Amino acid sequence: MSQIKALILAGGFGTRLRPLSCYRPKLLFPIAGKPIIDWVLDGLSKNGIDEAILATNYLDDMIKDHLGKRYGKVRLHYSLEEKPLGTGGAIKEAERFLRGEKFFFVLNGDIVSSPPLRQILHQHTRKKATVTIMLKKVEDPTHFGVARLGKETKIIQFVEKPRLEDAPSRWINAGVYLLNSEIFSYLSPRTKSSIEKEVFPVLASSGKLFGYKYAAEWFDIGRFSEYRKANNVILSREAGSEPRIAPGAEVKIPTKLIPPLTISGGSRVEQATLGPYTSVGKKALIHEGSRISESILFDKVIVGKNSTIRGAIIGESVFIGNNVRIGENCVIGDHVFIHDNIAIKHDVRICPYKEVHRSIDRPGIVS
Ligand code: GTP
Repeated sequence: MSQIKALILAGGFGTRLRPLSCYRPKLLFPIAGKPIIDWVLDGLSKNGIDEAILATNYLDDMIKDHLGKRYGKVRLHYSLEEKPLGTGGAIKEAERFLRGEKFFFVLNGDIVSSPPLRQILHQHTRKKATVTIMLKKVEDPTHFGVARLGKETKIIQFVEKPRLEDAPSRWINAGVYLLNSEIFSYLSPRTKSSIEKEVFPVLASSGKLFGYKYAAEWFDIGRFSEYRKANNVILSREAGSEPRIAPGAEVKIPTKLIPPLTISGGSRVEQATLGPYTSVGKKALIHEGSRISESILFDKVIVGKNSTIRGAIIGESVFIGNNVRIGENCVIGDHVFIHDNIAIKHDVRICPYKEVHRSIDRPGIVS
């Protein structure tokens, strides 16, 4: 497998994850204290892939600064688009890194899964496919491209975001592909295109598109609900029975820690109650009497005394005063400052750098 390269699509704007994606690529969002891209590269490494190309544009420097030229055993290259070219254009742009390859994997960078790449390759060559798409069965396929399957996992059509009653199956495009180099002839250079919408239908109609049915853990973290779900499941798996406290984090007794929970390095917790399903980023400072559960805190968050955060996502360098309440599904943008005694009920998104002086009791966006 080591001879097959992987291309990771890493240049999306992540608009559905605003405001947290305003200043941070989706791939650097943490899951159980580790950026999503690290989970993706760990998966490649486990499959024996040792060379990957990242197709970037939006905030590419942040990805490069984080990863550099190598991640463990995986050598990294960057294919930078001057402007976003969509999934098809990004693949074409990366052609120069893939010359001479018979086939290569493509992964959406916002999918966390354990793709069985060897088996996909095996099936791909056996069926003489041009493209094999990993398919995942879901209850609600209405947000995805849904495959109509013919004989032996041949994909005969893709229906994009159908109504539930119109969905041809529950098997969706899971964002992992094996492509033959022939794919480049279907794509135009420096032209924005969607491989899913423009190329896959052509291949389906000529019988060259196959699906690989995948049944294990899979998350598309494009939406906050899925992002939190991914965090919960991976936290349970990685830190299910014992709180995971990174070296350099300081926890004062009698802090109550309820797993699954991770606390990253440089954080200090003073007699608070943390967990379950909670991850605290680096260099956080949490004061006494506060309770944080089912939440994700990015780096450098400060939480005052006797505050409660439940079911929320808190961006980097947010300041939360004393006796603050933040409720279910709230998303607080980077550098927001929340004064003492504020209650933010539920489903509120606050844009970066806002100062919150008054309580917010209705769902909405504070911009
Ligand atoms: P939304 O704006 O919330 O839809 O997110 P997104 O822009 O990331 O789009 P989407 O989730 O459909 O993208 C799927 C994958 O393709 C993600 O890994 C994106 O990073 C990647 N992607 C989307 N558009 C581009 C692009 O123009 N260039 C590159 N290089 N990658 C892209």
